Amino acid sequence: MRDMANSITIKRDYSLREHNTFGLDVKAKQFINYNTIDELVEVLASLKGKEQRILHIGGGSNLLFTQDFEGTILHSGIKFIEYVSREDHEVVIRVGAGVKWDDLCAEMARCNYYGCENLSYIPGEVGASAIQNIGAYGVEVESIIQQVETIEASTGKPRVFHHTECGYGYRDSIFKHRLQGQYIVTAVVYRLSPIPIVHLDYGQLQQLRSHAGTPTAQEIRDAVIAIRQSKLPEPDELGSAGSFFKNPVVPAKVFRQIATTYGDVPHYVISEDEIKIPAAWLIDQCGWKGKSHGGAAVYEKQPLILVNKDHATPTDIIKLATLIEQSVLEKFNIHLSPEVNYI
Ligand code: EPU
Repeated sequence: MRDMANSITIKRDYSLREHNTFGLDVKAKQFINYNTIDELVEVLASLKGKEQRILHIGGGSNLLFTQDFEGTILHSGIKFIEYVSREDHEVVIRVGAGVKWDDLCAEMARCNYYGCENLSYIPGEVGASAIQNIGAYGVEVESIIQQVETIEASTGKPRVFHHTECGYGYRDSIFKHRLQGQYIVTAVVYRLSPIPIVHLDYGQLQQLRSHAGTPTAQEIRDAVIAIRQSKLPEPDELGSAGSFFKNPVVPAKVFRQIATTYGDVPHYVISEDEIKIPAAWLIDQCGWKGKSHGGAAVYEKQPLILVNKDHATPTDIIKLATLIEQSVLEKFNIHLSPEVNYI
């Protein structure tokens, strides 16, 4: 690589243990961290024409490395939070892709700007959050995204995607399918609200409704953190990638059949014909809670989460996930699809 600016770091045969929240000790042939858009363009130019796989990662909180990565992994260190405008009714901010998602949530709660407080404490970085359309407690990040700034990997040219061009859906965007790997997110523009807009429908958040006056963004954030800490493993203590599977959406007919046998199936009505059933419930009914395979296990408090209990290998996790998928299919005739990205 010629004329590389100093702040680019290149590592070879590099352990990705600190770059995937499962904590798997897989290696990348090459790992490059850059800190500015110019550096990214320079890195892309240097990789051009080389026959190798390139993968851009964020905090690695939604990845399952199935083996060593025989290519180059890119990581953004672009970190800034910039106010584009601050008005009485809305605040627009532009945030670098490498900012830790929860650092942004903490800052917004501190300023009492509403919009991302329900998404507090989700691991990962800003760039990946816009690709994955992270969601929790009745809110998806797309609801506050105005635009996504990218660099086209093949040309190094900038392109801005307006919200409507991002193809957002449940844990989904155009960047995961049609444009996968083609654009690298450099910054995301969000619109927040200084006026309270609260989402307190989720079970344990409903108690904030009896609160004297509208809860502050900070109070909602604190409640969300408390819920997450009680249900989900602490990323620093037990490796996982959050929810391993998506919650399946099934035809209403399938739901009714299940409900005949299991009267109290938890569910969310998506439309007249489609019902979402929590994968955690399906997995729980199959008796998986706390079960393990090799070093991988099903988290006791939330069976949608697979954890690295004891030096799990990628094979342990893949096998456990496959066994779970098979048993849910056999018992309920429902296909679970992973929420994590297999690499
Ligand atoms: N359930 C069980 N047994 C359990 C736990 C849960 O049967 O041990 C059933 C209960 O009926 C419960 C339902 O599953 O009501 C839903 O559980 P929970 O509220 O914990 O949420 P989830 O649907 O399992 C989703 C997201 C989470 C997000 C929460 C809260 C997906 C794939 N997961 O989980 O997101 O935090 O809702 O909004 O949509 C993530 O994406 O990594 C993630 C953690």
